[in-house]
Amino acid sequence: MSQHLWLRCEKKEFERRAALSPKNAKALIDAGFTIHVERDEQRIFDDSEYESVGCILEENNSWPNAPKDIPIFGLKELPLSDDPLPHTHIQFAHCYKNQAGWSAVLARFHKGGGKLYDLEFLTDETGRRVAAFGFHAGFAGAAAGALALASVQAGETLGHLHPFANETEMVNAVKEKLGDSAKKTRALVIGALGRCGRGAVDLFRKIGLEEDNIIKWDMDETAKGGPFQEILDVDVFVNCIYLSSKIPPFVTDEKINAAGPGRRLRVIVDVSCDTTNPFNPIPVYNINTTFKEPTVPVTVSPENPSLSVISIDHLPTLLPREASEQFSSDLLPSLLQLPQRDNARVWVEAEKLFNSKLKEAVQAEGL
Ligand SMILES: NC(=O)c1ccc[n+]([C@@H]2O[C@H](COP(=O)([O-])OP(=O)(O)OC[C@H]3O[C@@H](n4cnc5c(N)ncnc54)[C@H](O)[C@@H]3O)[C@@H](O)[C@H]2O)c1
Repeated sequence: MSQHLWLRCEKKEFERRAALSPKNAKALIDAGFTIHVERDEQRIFDDSEYESVGCILEENNSWPNAPKDIPIFGLKELPLSDDPLPHTHIQFAHCYKNQAGWSAVLARFHKGGGKLYDLEFLTDETGRRVAAFGFHAGFAGAAAGALALASVQAGETLGHLHPFANETEMVNAVKEKLGDSAKKTRALVIGALGRCGRGAVDLFRKIGLEEDNIIKWDMDETAKGGPFQEILDVDVFVNCIYLSSKIPPFVTDEKINAAGPGRRLRVIVDVSCDTTNPFNPIPVYNINTTFKEPTVPVTVSPENPSLSVISIDHLPTLLPREASEQFSSDLLPSLLQLPQRDNARVWVEAEKLFNSKLKEAVQAEGL
């Protein structure tokens, strides 16, 4: 019997990404799946793109009436509600790390008898996530950093950022704004071997930075311990590390002020966004910035050049098409194992985690 899968609409404001692209929907259909897709005007892919590869279009937000044995697939969390959830849901639910309201979210599964496979916790045998949005977070973060630098050079502050239709449009927009200064721009990426870091390096290459001017650091280079003078000697610093323990800060207010009027660094992009983490290695700002106001100034001594930080925590939304395409391609091998989910490791482990979190939630909610 064919495995059905139901791609629901996204209800989170401004979310244009999709958990499944038309290309990967086709790959599933070719493997014998039946794919239902809710009409969704907010999604970056047109409904017709899914229809033309053989998906069955369904009404917007009609998944609560879908047959109970069809898994419901989406990206972001569902709107707040007490309604029981009888289906199996595959999505990011943000309720396994004691986030605000976590037990109420899980209580809905308890009441409905449904199941959650949280996309953040689908991992391979080494514990690494099978799909994540990192590459395009780094790519978009570096683009925002380059745009902020161009604004500084023009004596302006970077204004509202809007999603780009595709990568080429983003690259061209940055190239146009940065102009010839791209050739002289120096950037340092820390965490350069990771997903976000590779994306940041790729953007800098595509907008025309010289290879020698893209400094790539990872664990080996930071082993000596910060703060690092090298950060102050580039135009843009992009932090892409996965912070897992206390480390010395990469940059500090003291170090910035000590650099004086000759400091080169003008923009920090904190893709990692460990803003409120007590071990944040960039303790020179304390808020997350937004697409509307992408930068926050660092307080510097009066005679020193300005310095701003970009700390947007949903950067891939700036490139919804490519980010969705890559995410769903990375997820495809696991999705192909859905019919065997009772035995396939990736799904079995995710279900085990769900069951243990559900138990905690039932206790917390006194159910
Ligand atoms: N802002 C956003 O929109 C956004 C989106 C996606 C991911 N993220 C965040 O970006 C971070 C990185 O994600 P990822 O998927 O690229 O992780 P990853 O594991 O693929 O890469 C992290 C890299 O950092 C390196 N690293 C770790 N500690 C380091 C240190 N002390 N010094 C130098 N290098 C170090 C690792 O060796 C690795 O190469 C995570 O915190 C993630 O939550 C942010």
